[in-house]
Amino acid sequence: MWKDWIRPLLRPSPQWSVVAVAPPQRAVSASLRWDGRSADVTADHTVASLRPLAIATSVDAGRVPVLEYHDAATGKLLGGLQLEKMASIAATQTSVVLYRVAAGGHRCLGWPQRSWNAWLQNRAIRKNRSPHGPGIEPAAAQQLMIAYLCPRPVVLVSVAAPAHCNIFPMDLIGPLERSGFFSLALRSTNVSVPVIRELRRVVLSSVPAAMKAAVYRLGEQHTHPLSGWNALPFPVRPSRRWGIPAVAAALRIRELAIVADREVGSHTFFLGRIDCDEDLAGGVQLHHTAGFHQAYRRRQGTPFAEVA
Ligand SMILES: Cc1cc2nc3c(=O)[nH]c(=O)nc-3n(C[C@H](O)[C@H](O)[C@H](O)COP(=O)(O)O)c2cc1C
Repeated sequence: MWKDWIRPLLRPSPQWSVVAVAPPQRAVSASLRWDGRSADVTADHTVASLRPLAIATSVDAGRVPVLEYHDAATGKLLGGLQLEKMASIAATQTSVVLYRVAAGGHRCLGWPQRSWNAWLQNRAIRKNRSPHGPGIEPAAAQQLMIAYLCPRPVVLVSVAAPAHCNIFPMDLIGPLERSGFFSLALRSTNVSVPVIRELRRVVLSSVPAAMKAAVYRLGEQHTHPLSGWNALPFPVRPSRRWGIPAVAAALRIRELAIVADREVGSHTFFLGRIDCDEDLAGGVQLHHTAGFHQAYRRRQGTPFAEVA
C-alpha cells in the first residue's frame, strides 16, 4: 500500500525514546573543546535550566566552547552544542560554570531527512504547546534533544518534612565529577522547591526500567505533594542514614545533602554532595535519549532496549 510507504515520511521520529540501560551508560561520550584544548565531560555536565537552555559543568572551558557527543564504540560524532559562558556558581572552595546553549546540530540522520524531521518535530512542538505557559521554543527543544544524546538516567526524588512529603521523577540530574557535586535542575514552580531549599536534604532512588508506568504517573500528579507514603503504588524503605522513604526496588539509593541553590531561568539548580550511597542491585535503569539517536542506533544494529 502506498500509505505504508508514505506514512514514515510524514511522521517525525519521536522526540524522546525511553530506554533500559545498565548504569553508568557508556554508549556515548561527551567532551568539551575550547582554545585547542579538550576535556572529557561524560560524567561532568548536566542540563541546568530549560528556559534558557543552559548546561552546567565543573570544567571552565573558556567563553565559547563546543560540547560534542561521540558514539563511544565507533568514535563517530553524533552531535554538538555551541555554548556561551553565562556565570559561575562558587560553592565550598570549588565552582561550577553555567553555559547558555547558543546553537546545535546532530548527525544521527542523513540530509535531507535531518532537516525534514526537525521541521515536522518543530511543527508538532508548536501545535502541542501548553496554554498554561510559554513552553520551550522549537530551536531549544532541538538543542535539548542533542543534550540527551548521552542517555539520561531517571531517578525518583524523595522529600520528607514534618508537614510535606513528595516523590517525583527527575532526569535533569547528574554528577559534576571534578567538583564532587551532584546537581538537580528542578522547575521553580515544583511544589517541593521551597521545602528542599529549607530542608537541604533529598534522597534519590535509581529506578529499574520496569517501573516506567509508575514513574510517569508520579510525573503527572505534580501539582500537589504526596498525601502520604502509603498512597504510593509501590513499596518504600527508609534510606540508610536519614530514614527518608525511598523506592524499595531501587537499584541504588543516594542521600544528597544540598549545599547551594541558584535560580537559573525556569529552574532552580541545586548542588549537593552525596552523603550516603547504597548500591543495592544490578539491572537496567530507566533512561531517556533523543528519538533520532535511537533511530541512528537502530540503523547501526545497536539499538538500546526500548521500554514499552
Ligand atoms: C521521567 C520524568 C523526568 C522528569 N524530570 C524532571 C526534571 O529533571 N526536572 C523537573 O523540573 N521536572 C522533571 N519532571 C517533572 C517533575 O517530575 C514534576 O512533575 C515537575 O517538576 C513539577 O513541576 P510543575 O508543578 O511546575 O509542573 C520529570 C517528569 C518525568 C515523567
